[in-house]
Amino acid sequence: MRKNIVAGNWKMNKTFQEAEELIDQIVVGMEKNSLKCEVIACPPALYLEMASDYAEESRIHIGAQNVSEHEKGAFTGETAAPMLASVDIEYCIVGHSERRKYFHETNEQLAKKVDILLDYGIKPIFCCGEVLEEREKEIHFDVVKKQLEESLFHLNEDEFSNIVVAYEPVWAIGTGKTASPEQAQEMHAFIRSLIAEKYGTKTSDEVSILYGGSCNPGNAKTLFANKDVDGGLIGGASLKAEDFLKIASAFE
Ligand code: 13P
Repeated sequence: MRKNIVAGNWKMNKTFQEAEELIDQIVVGMEKNSLKCEVIACPPALYLEMASDYAEESRIHIGAQNVSEHEKGAFTGETAAPMLASVDIEYCIVGHSERRKYFHETNEQLAKKVDILLDYGIKPIFCCGEVLEEREKEIHFDVVKKQLEESLFHLNEDEFSNIVVAYEPVWAIGTGKTASPEQAQEMHAFIRSLIAEKYGTKTSDEVSILYGGSCNPGNAKTLFANKDVDGGLIGGASLKAEDFLKIASAFE
C-alpha cells in the first residue's frame, strides 16, 4: 500500500547537541500524536548513529542526505553505503538539487548511488525537479522525465519498489515560493504516469511521491490533499520540531 511520508532534510544545520534535542523533541511529539504518515529525519552524516539509536526506541525513521557511488577506498570525505548500513540507516536522499548544482552530480552518477544503496538494503529518496528557466521554457516535464529515465529506469520492478520519489522544483527550494497545489499535482501525476508506463500500475500505485520546496505548516494540508502528493521532503521547516510535527499532522 502507498505510504504517506514526511521527511525532514536538515541539510548542513545543527550542532550535535542541537541535533539531539531536535530528534528528541520530534520523537516525544510523535508519541503524543497519532500521525497518519511515516516520519523520516535526515540529519547530517555525523549525527546518523545518534539518530539511529533513537529510531531503535521509537517510530521515527532515519535517512542520510548523501552517499558515495563507491563502495570503499580512497575517497576522502565521502560516506559509503556499507557505512550507512552498519549504523542501520533506512533511507538516503539521492540527487538533491543542491548536490546536482554545487557538487555537479550527474544523472549517471546518481544511478550508481541508487544501485549501491539498494545493494545495501537502503531505500533511496530520489529527488527530481526543474530550475526556473526550464519551467519558463516549458520544458519542466522533459527535464523530470530525463532525470527519472537516466537515474532510475534501469532498475527492475522489484528494485523500483524500494524507491521514494521527491519532486522538488528548484525555484521553490528555500525561496518561500511554493509550487501551487495544481502545479504539484500535475507534475506528481506525470511522474506516476511515467512509472506506470515503465513498471505497470501496481508499482505506480504503490510508489510514494513527495513534494519539496518551501513546504510549511501553513501550506502542507492543501499540498498533501492532492491525490498524487503522498507527503513532503521538508527543508527549513524541519529544523523546528513544532513546525515539522504540524506538517506531519497535515494528513486528513
Ligand atoms: P525548503 O523546505 O527549505 O524549501 O527545502 C526543501 C528541500 O530542499 C528539501 O530537500
